[in-house]
Amino acid sequence: MRVENRRVLAALAELGIEHRPGERLADWTSLGVGGTTDLLVIREPRHLPELIRLLDSEGLPRRFLGGGSNLLVRDGELPWVLLHLSPRNAEPEFRGRRVQVPAAADLGRTVTLCARRNLGGVEGLIGVPGSVGGALRMNAGAYGIEISQFIRSVQLYRAASGTIETVPPETLGFRYRQSSVAPGDILIGTELELEEKPYEEIRQTIRMCNEKRRASQPINEKSAGCIFKNPPGASAGKMIDELGLKGHRVGGAVVSERHANFFVNRFQATAEDLFRLVELIRRRVREAFGYDLEEEVIVWAE
Ligand code: EPU
Repeated sequence: MRVENRRVLAALAELGIEHRPGERLADWTSLGVGGTTDLLVIREPRHLPELIRLLDSEGLPRRFLGGGSNLLVRDGELPWVLLHLSPRNAEPEFRGRRVQVPAAADLGRTVTLCARRNLGGVEGLIGVPGSVGGALRMNAGAYGIEISQFIRSVQLYRAASGTIETVPPETLGFRYRQSSVAPGDILIGTELELEEKPYEEIRQTIRMCNEKRRASQPINEKSAGCIFKNPPGASAGKMIDELGLKGHRVGGAVVSERHANFFVNRFQATAEDLFRLVELIRRRVREAFGYDLEEEVIVWAE
């Protein structure tokens, strides 16, 4: 979706919003697939209400792009303008065991900065790629913890009211890889409460998580992490593996040989290749095990 109206472009410039026409989503996502659209990079989250009023008044559909690490976007010209919070100056602020983190901050870097202040608990998230905002929306988790355990409050733009609100975590319906944050809402920041621990202890745990991840996940290939959620009591990766589907290829998309719930873009895959691979694997698992696997990645197919 192109932003071409001069009045809108002038208003964007006034808000300090960078207009990047014709960005390829393949360059903004860890999977390396996705079509083209205009991207608006926002430096000041407080400008969101005004920006969105402007886009709505022009009838420009919008979506929000975070770190792009858990996202499968369709090919071609995309029918939405994408909003993106600039990660520049997105620094955590510390107050005792509490830390205020902007949503645009990188999750792994945040874990490391907290560790240096002797604040831990969140070590398991070290290798989870993406932004803090994405981690909040998806309730990112790994190695026995989920980010929602540490949240004390969340600041977000609410599409329903058109305003920025601060809310307690209980109102956001956090569950396994899920929250009730509405699709049109935009996460701005969060206050976390962490555990005091000696730096050396945190470092050991971080090292252990990194090693486990390196051994079990294809961290050097283009992927969006796990493609499917684990159904209660079962493992999507294990089922796909048991079906002998590691290495199965559709176009440029391949089921990772290292972890069967990771689909990697090895040979310049298109989104279409990935959609077809997702459907094929879902069907095979349904036929063999009776589980209807649900995507863990966010899919922008239409
Ligand atoms: N397994 C196989 N073959 C495989 C992959 C896994 O047999 O190809 C087996 C493993 O041996 C193990 C079981 O399946 O017995 C579970 O595997 P693993 O420990 O790798 O965990 P997972 O359930 O597949 C989850 C999260 C990961 C997270 C890891 C570590 C989901 C969908 N996945 O994976 O999160 O990193 O635990 O805590 O919840 C993500 O969210 O994108 C993600 C990668």
